[in-house]
Amino acid sequence: MPACFERKGRKVEIINTVEGLKKTLDSAREEGKSIGFVPTMGALHQGHMDLVSRASTVCDVVVVSVFVNPTQFNNPSDLEKYPRTPQADSELLKKFGCDVAFFPSEIEIYPENLVSPRVDLSGLDEVMEGKFRPGHFKGVVQVVYRLFDIVEPQKAFFGLKDFQQVAVIKRMVEQLNLPIEIVPCETSRTEKGLAMSSRNKRLSEVQKEEALIIYHTLMHAKADAGSYSPAETIVRAKDFFEQGALQLEYLTIVDPHTLQDLSDKWVPGAAMCIACFCGEVRLIDNMTLI
Ligand code: PAF
Repeated sequence: MPACFERKGRKVEIINTVEGLKKTLDSAREEGKSIGFVPTMGALHQGHMDLVSRASTVCDVVVVSVFVNPTQFNNPSDLEKYPRTPQADSELLKKFGCDVAFFPSEIEIYPENLVSPRVDLSGLDEVMEGKFRPGHFKGVVQVVYRLFDIVEPQKAFFGLKDFQQVAVIKRMVEQLNLPIEIVPCETSRTEKGLAMSSRNKRLSEVQKEEALIIYHTLMHAKADAGSYSPAETIVRAKDFFEQGALQLEYLTIVDPHTLQDLSDKWVPGAAMCIACFCGEVRLIDNMTLI
């Protein structure tokens, strides 16, 4: 077994090129090893490490990519301000043990003449994040498809904090018939309930406290769900949320498969999804209510 795949010693191989990564993964595949993949945009935190550790329980080799994908940002200032901590990311990956960390440059991911497939997302990309961040999911699909094509994992692990992203990626995999299992993983939270996110790095301690209104609103809605309709639950949740200091962008309850709004009737897996601003920082979160 090559040293770079020894989980015990937690040796991480850091790779910057597609060619280098393919070579490493081809030799792992030749040894019959399964590949698990955790795509990220860096500024890694415990939530990412939870994905890595989940992947390492079911796959022989865990690959983590760190790439801030410009094509999924519709707002240039959001892209510019997105936290980038490559040194700390490498240290964390060494400590918490993925096997291969892939830090590609933009030209490695988007070489000239790259052809990205067209994917019919059946409207999953048009609601919620899609409405407020036009083009966002086109960029997500483009980069995830490209990364899947490079890594060729058996399984890929995504956090459910990005509830809509998980639905979109699943649909992409179905549409393109890719032989990859998408493994959705529970949202990791701080002890007080704030969903872990790279964007939290931009929050002050006071703002982190203020942002707890998101979790409290979701819990409030979960308690309401048994007694009220989705529409009533939304009204009550908005009232609750407005007691806090954050600015709401949207708060809705959706069918987990179609992502269409629910109003009168509950369906199993119905989820409340919230997007809001804490100061300048845009946060999203969600919870399955029923
Ligand atoms: O969830 C993210 O961090 C990104 O959207 C992803 C999946 C890494 C694609 O850039």
